[in-house]
Order: sequence, then structure tokens, then C-alpha cells
Amino acid sequence: MKRALLLSLLVLAGCDDMNHQAKRNPYERNAGDPRTADPAQTPSGTVQFAEKPTKAPPLTLALIERGQNRYQQFCVPCHSELGDGHGMVVQRGFSPPPSYHIDRLREANTAHFYDVMTNGYGAMYSFAQRVPPPDRWAIAAYIRALQLSEQAKETDLTPAQRAVLASTP
Ligand code: HEC
Repeated sequence: MKRALLLSLLVLAGCDDMNHQAKRNPYERNAGDPRTADPAQTPSGTVQFAEKPTKAPPLTLALIERGQNRYQQFCVPCHSELGDGHGMVVQRGFSPPPSYHIDRLREANTAHFYDVMTNGYGAMYSFAQRVPPPDRWAIAAYIRALQLSEQAKETDLTPAQRAVLASTP
């Protein structure tokens, strides 16, 4: 019993208002300390913003599948599964992105998609910290596949695929 009381007192003592705790100014510079040396250090394993452009890897099914996986992870909330720009975040009020299926973006260079992910674009923030360069190329390849699929005609399908389509109500 005594112990429980002591414990609850100790726990209550922890309920200090954090505003009154001593804390460091995150912007303060401390000459001897490498963590606060200027310019800010990037922790290892994260992508630098001012990075060199990387070359597109060869186009393979594995690359597109990787791109689909990463696209669903990072881009669907705004751009939607179809890439039409009606993602859930947009339905909740975020600025709507353009559809990937407009002429300008269908005619855009694949590197443009890469650059948008690296640098951000207008209201869209950069994904450089979250999506490493090989995955950016993978996502760009998947956007190309999305664009193609929106424009696909029945004659692009194999006879077997057409049969499936015909049997779907
Ligand atoms: C939080 C919402 C959001 C997310 C997540 C997001 N975008 Fe965007 N994106 C936007 C908005 C908003 C625009 C339009 C920006 C503008 O024109 O100001 C845009 C524009 C674009 C454009 C068109 C640029 C142009 O030339 O008009 C591309 C390509 C693009 N995004 C790719 C991506 C990719 C790839 C991902 C995932 C890695 C992604 N976006 C994730 C919101 C988002």
C-alpha cells in the first residue's frame, strides 16, 4: 500500500508542465558541437536535396511493379489510383493536382515526373527525402503505364483479354 502511494506520488511528480522545462533552442549554434555546426548536417541514410541527377534505369516489368507499389504508398492519397487527381486528401480540401491524362502531362518528358518528385512542384512538396532516386524512376515509369492504360483501346488487348471483356457485364 505504502509502495503504491509512493509510486503514484512519483508518477504525479512527472506531470510537470513541459513549458517550464529547460530546453535548447533548436537553431542555436554551438561552435564545438558537430551536430549544431553550420550548415545543418543531414543524418546519414537520408537523401540530399542538392543531389546530382541520376540516369533512368532500363524499363522492365519489375521496375513498373516497384513503381506501382511506391506510387500507391506515396502518391495515391492526392493523385488517386487512376492518376486523375481526385485522391482522398484532395477530397478533404487539399489543392487538386492536374490529371496525369491531360495532353501536357502525356507529352511531358519522363524526367519531368522525376524532377517533380525531387524538387516539388507548386503546392506539391518534394519527395526527395522519402523516395530515393531509383524509386522515383520506378514511379515515373508507372505513371507512364497509367497514362497508357487510360488511352488503351480494345484493339490493344489480346484476344483472350477481349474475351474476358466481352463476358464482363
Ligand atoms: C499531398 C498531395 C500530393 C501528394 C501526396 C503528391 N502530389 Fe503530386 N501534386 C500535388 C498537387 C497539389 C499538384 C499540383 C501543384 C501545382 O500545380 O501547384 C501536383 C502535381 C504533380 C505533377 C504534375 C506537375 C505538372 O507539371 O503539372 C506530377 C507529375 C506529380 N504531382 C507527381 C507526384 C508523384 C509521383 C507523387 C508521389 C511520389 C505525388 N505527386 C504526390 C499534390 C500531391
